[in-house]
Amino acid sequence: MIPQPFIDELIDRTDIVEVVGARVALKKAGARYKGLCPFHDEKTPSFTVSPDKGFYHCFGCHAGGNAISFLMEHDNMSFPEAIETLAGMLGLEIPAQRNVADRSENQGLLDALGEADRIYRQALRESQEAIDYLKRRGIDGAVAKRFAIGYAPDAWDTVLRRLGGGEAQTRRLVQAGLVMANETGRHYDRFRGRVMFPIRDRRGKVIGFGGRVIADGEPKYMNSPETNVFHKGRALYGVYEAHRTPGRHDEIIVVEGYLDVVSLAQHGIEPVVATLGTATSAEHVRQLTRRYKRVVFCFDGDRAGRTAAWRALETALPYAGGEVELGFLLLPDGEDPDSLVRSQGADTFRDLLSRATTLSNFFIDELREQVDLGSADGRSKIVALARPLLERLPAGVYRDLLTADLAGVVGLTAERLGTLLESPPKTTTRPRTPLHRKSTLVRKTITLALHFPSAASCIGDIDGLDDVDQPGADLLRSILEVSRENPKIKPAQLIERFRSDEEGRHLQRLAAEVPLDDEEAAPEVLRDSLKRLVRDQRHKKAVMELKERALSAPGN
Ligand code: UTP
Ligand code: MN
Repeated sequence: MIPQPFIDELIDRTDIVEVVGARVALKKAGARYKGLCPFHDEKTPSFTVSPDKGFYHCFGCHAGGNAISFLMEHDNMSFPEAIETLAGMLGLEIPAQRNVADRSENQGLLDALGEADRIYRQALRESQEAIDYLKRRGIDGAVAKRFAIGYAPDAWDTVLRRLGGGEAQTRRLVQAGLVMANETGRHYDRFRGRVMFPIRDRRGKVIGFGGRVIADGEPKYMNSPETNVFHKGRALYGVYEAHRTPGRHDEIIVVEGYLDVVSLAQHGIEPVVATLGTATSAEHVRQLTRRYKRVVFCFDGDRAGRTAAWRALETALPYAGGEVELGFLLLPDGEDPDSLVRSQGADTFRDLLSRATTLSNFFIDELREQVDLGSADGRSKIVALARPLLERLPAGVYRDLLTADLAGVVGLTAERLGTLLESPPKTTTRPRTPLHRKSTLVRKTITLALHFPSAASCIGDIDGLDDVDQPGADLLRSILEVSRENPKIKPAQLIERFRSDEEGRHLQRLAAEVPLDDEEAAPEVLRDSLKRLVRDQRHKKAVMELKERALSAPGN
């Protein structure tokens, strides 16, 4: 852990124009600087840097944040690396030693994985059997090279012999997931007799492996275990290669298997990534929707594939709508992307992709299968099933459209269904809605508080604010609290406090909005907005009570 005061100081003393300007050509434009956005292709500049606030932002692709975020996003640095770089620029020493120790420990694992990768690639060149296997599967040398495919010979000590030696080094190989120990304490290679797919992070560092047996054997695929550098809920196979696909790409395909990724790439269908034998996580979706406008989940058509697709839908809902489009392509039973592209060819596959089911259709089709729409009971059940899911969608046009579609299916008017959906659910708790998709009063108030912490710090207690239960209200209260405790805090520092917070991540977007030109008016406008929030809450509560009374009245 790096102490917060140190991070505060770092941000305070860092000149963001210097950090960004070293990597992007910037021109002064009023109080800001402008340039061509390094995060997406563009011809006219929509990327700005505000030195007074310590923010950068792109109006085109919505990338944004402080100097730390910039280094993490632009140079693909980890958080500690970004801190280290900024500290280095300022000649400051990082106070916590533990973190440095962790880092070098992780570096040790990464080194071991990188060396194992080299060993496996070398072994592939020397194994006719493995080369033949890849050929049989339609993978040529160029693609194998691009994905750095290797081979773990069928021996107990290929890696151990080359990289082992000494207790500490063996322990490191175990921690890296390359070597295992049996009950008697003997060590041996985890991967044997397998074609090796290195899993790389966005920077291209090998963080783990997947290995497929060449001959018969169980299990078919063996994956690296979770390690300090490899987290399956975060990693995606092929992400490094995907981001480097030549040309401009708004769309990415998510499949289930290593070979599906490689095989599609072999047929020129890219970018593609695969989850690693795990369900699609929110972190996966977040990563992908930040970079791509359309994400198509392409799963097998069997029961397992449908279930995986449905879980992906549930996870992805909070990211849907707005500029992000989600598609679902369920392949015919018995086919996977690899088998299909090989038998039908790239054009057919592309055609299928372009006709992938929309989120809305997939959503309704799947729900429809679970109930008997012929009965009143079934129709009310589908509403109950849909409610928690619809709530996970950010409020807006898209949610309204989906609600209207559902209304059509259950034979209600959209209005009537909307009322049904709005009446308070019995037990379910409301999932948090990402802030960045909403343009609500809460959002505006948060933006104000974020840009004018000193104004926030001088506002006294607002009666009733604690009762406001809209999405984002917790975050707003936290921001007010932090500002009150640190009246001199800068917006860029404020953002930093919430980096690991589920909702706080969205603050980076709000950094770009200039809520008010007149800074002097800030305390008043902010107080006003807070009071309005409280008033809205009271109004909502009153309406709810009325509805409840109406519902429980006889004849209803
Ligand atoms: P599949 O069984 O669908 O294999 O597993 P596949 O990708 O079609 O592979 P080929 O074509 O037979 O070579 C899909 C994914 O599930 C995980 C792997 O990530 C695999 O790519 N898996 C599968 C495992 O982790 N372990 C297994 O034993 C099997
Ligand atoms: Mn397959």
